[in-house]
Amino acid sequence: MPISKIYCSCHLLLLFLTFVKATPKCEIMNQQTQYHVTCTPNDNSDYKLQRGLVSDNNDTIKLTLRACRISEVELEAFENLFALEYLDISQNKISELKLGVLDGMVEVNHLNLSQNLLTGFPLGLFDQKPNLNTLDLSGNKIENLELGIFDPLMKLKWLDLSGNSLKGKDINPYIFDQTTKINYISFARNNMNRAPENLLNALEDLRTLNLDRCLITEIPAFAIGRNLRTLRELIISTNQITKLDDATAFINLDNLNTLNLAYNVIESIDSNTFKPCKKLRVIVLRGNKLTDIPDTLFKDMKSIGNIDLSHNEITSIPVNAFRGTSLKNLNLASNRITYLADNFCLELKNSGAILTKFYFNQNPWQCACLRNILDEVKKYKISYNGIMYDGKHPICVTTSEHFCKRHDTFNSVYKELYDRLVLGLQIDT
Ligand SMILES: *[C@@H]1O[C@H](CO)[C@@H](O)[C@H](O)[C@H]1NC(C)=O
Ligand SMILES: *[C@@H]1O[C@H](CO)[C@@H](O)[C@H](O)[C@H]1NC(C)=O
Repeated sequence: MPISKIYCSCHLLLLFLTFVKATPKCEIMNQQTQYHVTCTPNDNSDYKLQRGLVSDNNDTIKLTLRACRISEVELEAFENLFALEYLDISQNKISELKLGVLDGMVEVNHLNLSQNLLTGFPLGLFDQKPNLNTLDLSGNKIENLELGIFDPLMKLKWLDLSGNSLKGKDINPYIFDQTTKINYISFARNNMNRAPENLLNALEDLRTLNLDRCLITEIPAFAIGRNLRTLRELIISTNQITKLDDATAFINLDNLNTLNLAYNVIESIDSNTFKPCKKLRVIVLRGNKLTDIPDTLFKDMKSIGNIDLSHNEITSIPVNAFRGTSLKNLNLASNRITYLADNFCLELKNSGAILTKFYFNQNPWQCACLRNILDEVKKYKISYNGIMYDGKHPICVTTSEHFCKRHDTFNSVYKELYDRLVLGLQIDT
């Protein structure tokens, strides 16, 4: 592509734009031979995207119309963009895309429609997008996905549906039947309660499934199907799951790396729940309602390196639960723990788990027990959160007996002391 031509069309476009008020201002950038047009709004009024602003250009490869106050898109607005591969029209006020408006542009592999006001799509809207790889539909008001809408997208790999108004129970279970190559999908911030259990059955290589804030009350069947052996990351955080008492729930997820169950209301876990996930490296149980964990919960799960149990109500931590893992990072902060097993870090070390980061702050520690732990983390050079351990803040409690009492029968005494003296809570007697 001759350089002179680029300058020439650029000047022409800018000249043209100076006469059209309220039209977004477009600039052409030649980034490493990628022909990139970026538009920014010109004033504070909404704009109807018409033919002529960005259309009819065989050189444009990348087109960014982000936050341009576009409220409407004329049917021919993207006409004759034969070379276009990347289209970002996110952060506008588009509530409707007419059938045919995206036709042509068969080379497009990246389409970003996020943060608009779309409620749905006419069937056939994506018919001429055989090369689409990435489709971002997040942050719209989509209520309904018509069966067949994604069928032409045979190469789709990345689909973000987060932050819409979808209702799992109304989604057609065959909606992804042709888009079998998807490897990332997010339904975060939709109501996925009672979604059909075969919803994802056609996916052959799903790697990441995001179900954050989906009003889910139990591990959904569609998230653990037999074809999901491929899954690496499962995010079910900020939901309303109360228990994980089915030992076979994750039986198919034997390649899972990361399981995020943070901020649910989980009270109990079956000791074998995580065992089928033999490759699990990271497990996040932060912000639940656990009061204890089974004695063998993570035992001999060789890949586990990172466990977050912080912000629960755990009173006792069995050292056995972590034996035979490769634990490096353990977070026990903000629980109700008064003591740990004697030589806790050494015990773990002897069983193969070499801690490098260990958080245990904000627990009702018996001072003598906390001193033991601090001696150990210093000895083994394990990093910990010692911000409050500067001698100026109360961090632990003690009775007249200055030794670590390792038995649950004493817990209530120290918890009560801690709440009263350290947290300053008024306890009714
Ligand atoms: C643009 O590309 C299309 C398809 O490759 C071609 O048919 C058309 O003639 C080109 N237009 C111009 C003005 O070069
Ligand atoms: C789409 O656009 C939004 C907002 O402009 C941005 O945050 C997001 O990262 C984009 N998505 C992709 C896949 O690039």
